Amino acid sequence: MRLILVSNRLPVNVKESQGSVEIHPSVGGLVTGISAYLDTVKDSLEYIWVGWPGKELSENALNIVKKEAFQKYNAYPVQIPESLNESFYAGFCNKTIWPLFHYFPSYANYDPGFWDSYEEVNQIFLETLEEIIQEGDMVWIHDYHLLLLPSLLRAKYPKLEIGFFLHIPFPTYEIFRLMPGMWRKKLLTGLLGSDLIGFHTHDYTQYYLHCILRILGLENNFGEIIYDNRLVKVDTFPMGINYDKFAKIAATDQSTAIIEDTKKAFIGSKFILSVDRLDYSKGVYARLEAFERFLDKFPKWRNQANLLLVVVPSREQVEQYQEMKKAIDEIVGRINGKFATLDWTPIHYQYRMLSLEELVPLYRMSDAILVTPYRDGMNLVAKEFIASKIDKKGVLILSEMAGASKELGEAIIVNPNNVEEMADAIHEALGMNEAEQIQRNSTMQLRTKRYDVVRWASDFLKTLDLRKSYQDKLSSRFIDKELKKEIYRKFSVGEKKLIFLDYDGTLVPFQKKPELAIPSEELKTLLRRLVEIKNAEIIIISGRDKDTLLDWMQGLDVSIVAEHGAWIRERGKEWRLFKQAPNDWKPRIQPILEQNVDRLPGSFIEEKNFSLVFHYRNADLELAEVRVKELTDDLVHYTANMDVTVLQGNKVIEIKNTGISKGYAGLDLVNYYNPDNILSIGDDWTDESLFAALPEHAVTIKVGIGPSNAKYNVKDYEEVREFLRGLALS
Ligand code: UDP
Ligand code: G6P
Repeated sequence: MRLILVSNRLPVNVKESQGSVEIHPSVGGLVTGISAYLDTVKDSLEYIWVGWPGKELSENALNIVKKEAFQKYNAYPVQIPESLNESFYAGFCNKTIWPLFHYFPSYANYDPGFWDSYEEVNQIFLETLEEIIQEGDMVWIHDYHLLLLPSLLRAKYPKLEIGFFLHIPFPTYEIFRLMPGMWRKKLLTGLLGSDLIGFHTHDYTQYYLHCILRILGLENNFGEIIYDNRLVKVDTFPMGINYDKFAKIAATDQSTAIIEDTKKAFIGSKFILSVDRLDYSKGVYARLEAFERFLDKFPKWRNQANLLLVVVPSREQVEQYQEMKKAIDEIVGRINGKFATLDWTPIHYQYRMLSLEELVPLYRMSDAILVTPYRDGMNLVAKEFIASKIDKKGVLILSEMAGASKELGEAIIVNPNNVEEMADAIHEALGMNEAEQIQRNSTMQLRTKRYDVVRWASDFLKTLDLRKSYQDKLSSRFIDKELKKEIYRKFSVGEKKLIFLDYDGTLVPFQKKPELAIPSEELKTLLRRLVEIKNAEIIIISGRDKDTLLDWMQGLDVSIVAEHGAWIRERGKEWRLFKQAPNDWKPRIQPILEQNVDRLPGSFIEEKNFSLVFHYRNADLELAEVRVKELTDDLVHYTANMDVTVLQGNKVIEIKNTGISKGYAGLDLVNYYNPDNILSIGDDWTDESLFAALPEHAVTIKVGIGPSNAKYNVKDYEEVREFLRGLALS
C-alpha cells in the first residue's frame, strides 16, 4: 500500500531568486504532526506528500523542486497561479473559513470570488493527484483548504480509499450556518466523499454530525452516515506529538548548555513562555494584557518574572494579521516601557520561527507556559511543553478553548477572555510547590506519551482500512451486469414465480406527504409488463392502507398485501384478513401520539386498520431526534404488556399488532403458490421480515446500502425500475 498525503501546506517552503532555489522547512501544527509521524514510519511505508510549496514556481524551479523536495521529503508540489492563490489562500481559506471556524464571524468575508477560487484550487489539487494516483493507493487529505477534494476525488475514483482529517475546530451549527447557502452544503457534502472523516475532539465530531443533520437532513448511526450509497464514518482522533523526540532533544547536552547559560545571565529569574504563530485566534494580545495585569496586581514578581514571547510570522497578506502584529508590537513596547528597570526587561520578544533545537530548551527551562487561544483545533505547543519537561517541573496554563484541554485537564485551565483569571493563573503557577507540579505533569506526560502522533495516525489509518473493507464487502453485493443476467436466466424458467415488490422507496421515491406518491403512467406501464411475465404473480406488499393501494393499482392484474401484511388480496379475489387481531390498544396509544404531535410541529398520525403510525418526515429533524427517542422509550414501556410491536422506520414510528408482518403474510402466499422462483425487493426494516422469512433460494434485494437480510443491493428506485424492465423483457 502507498499512502498519498494531501495538504495545502507542504513541510517545505520554496524560495526562488535569480534561477536558484532554496528549500526551507515550514511551520504549523499540521506539518509538525504529519512530519513527526512520517519520521517514525518512513522506512516501512511508501508515501508521497502532495501540497503547495508556498509560492507559484517557474518551470525551472518546479523541476528542481520536483526532484529535490521529492528526494528529501517525498514532497510533490501543486502549482497554483499566484493571483488565484491570493483569493484561495488569503481569501476563502483565511478570510472566510478560518475566522468562521474559529468563532470570529465578524472577521469573515463572504466574497463570491473567493468561493470560485476555492472550487478552482480544489480542482487543481484533483488534477495534480491524477498525475500520481495508482490503484491500491490510500489517500489522506488534511485540513480546511481542501474540504471539497474528497468528493471530487470520489467522483473520479469510486473505489479509492479516502480519509480526511480536520486540524481546526468544526464550529456549532449556529456559526456554520452563517456560511451562505450553497457553499455550506457543498462544504459538508465535499467531505462526504471520504470513507472516514476525523476531528480532534468529540465536540467537533458532534457539531459536524449536527450540521449534516440540520442542513442536509442526513441522520447518523453512531457516526455512520449513508450518503450516495456509501457508508461514511465520522470519528474523533485527538492528534498527538512525537513525544520521545521532544524528551530526547530536551535531554541533549546542547539544550542543557543553552539553559545553563541563560540561567547564569538571569540569576533568580522566573520564565514564562509564550509561543505561537501570529494569529488572532491564539489570544496573544489578551495574554499580554494578562501579563501586565499580573505585574500590576502582584508587584513582588517585578524584577523577577520574564515573559519569553515567541511570535512566528504567518499569513502576512491578511489584514487582521498585519493589525495583530502592530497591536502586539505596541503593547510589548508599552509594558516594557512601563515596568522595565536598568537590569530587568519584562518581555523578551522574538518575531521569527525557531528551530526545535532552539524551542525545546525554552520549553524545558520555563517555569510556566501560557497557551491561551480563543479557539484552537488542538494546540501542539501545549503537548510539546509537557513532553520537554524531563524534570517534570513547570506549569502549563491552558485555555479551555483549545482542543488539547480535553486531554490535559491537570493544567491550570483558564478562560482566554478573562484577563484577571489569567493574571491570577500566572501568580498561582509561579507559586505552585514542586511536588504538585511534578504530580500534575507526570499524569499529563503519561497520557501524552501513550497517545502520541504515531498512535494518532495509525489509529486513523487502521480505521480507514477497516472502513474500506467493510464498504467493499457491502458494495460487492450491488447487482452488476453479470448478476443481473444470471437472475434473469433463473427467472426465465419455472412453473410459478412470485415477485414481491414494496412500494414507497422501492418503486417510487419518498414524498414529503405520503398521499403524493401516486403511481405514474411510467410505473403503471412497467407493472403491466411484469404482469405479462409467464407464470408470474406480482405482489405489491406495502405498509399502506388497503383502500389507497387498491385505488392506485386499479386496472392492474396484481395481488396486494396491505398494512404490512394485515390484509391480503390475491389477484382477482376480494380482501381477506390475514389474522384477526384485537384493536383495543389503539385508544390507549392514540393520546400519547397526539401529545407528541403537539410537541413536534410537522409530525402527524396516520391510522390504519391494525396499526398507528407517527410520521415526522416534515418535522425539524433535530428536534425530532430528541422527541422520537423519548416517544419510542415511552411506547416500549407502555406497551410492554400489550400484544403490539413498536417499530422505527424511515422517519416514522409504527405501532402494530404483533404477529402481523410482511414476513408472515409473504410466507402465507409462498405456501399457497409453492413457487419455484421468488424475487423480493424492498428498502426498509418492514421488508427485512420478508427477506428473512423467504426460502433460501429466493432472490432478495435491498434498495440502498446498509446491513440487511437481503442477498443483494441496488442503489435506488430508478435502478429497481431498470432491473424490472430488464426482467420483463428477458
Ligand atoms: N513551532 C516551531 N517553531 C516556532 C514556533 C512553533 O517549530 O518558532 C511549531 C511548534 O513546535 C508546533 C507548531 O509549530 O509544533 C505549532 O502547532 P500548534 O498546533 O500549536 O499551532 P498551529 O500553528 O498549528 O495553529
Ligand atoms: C494551522 C492549520 C494548518 C496550517 C498551519 C499554518 O495549523 O491547521 O493547515 O498549515 O496552521 O498556517 P499556514 O497558513 O502557514 O499554512
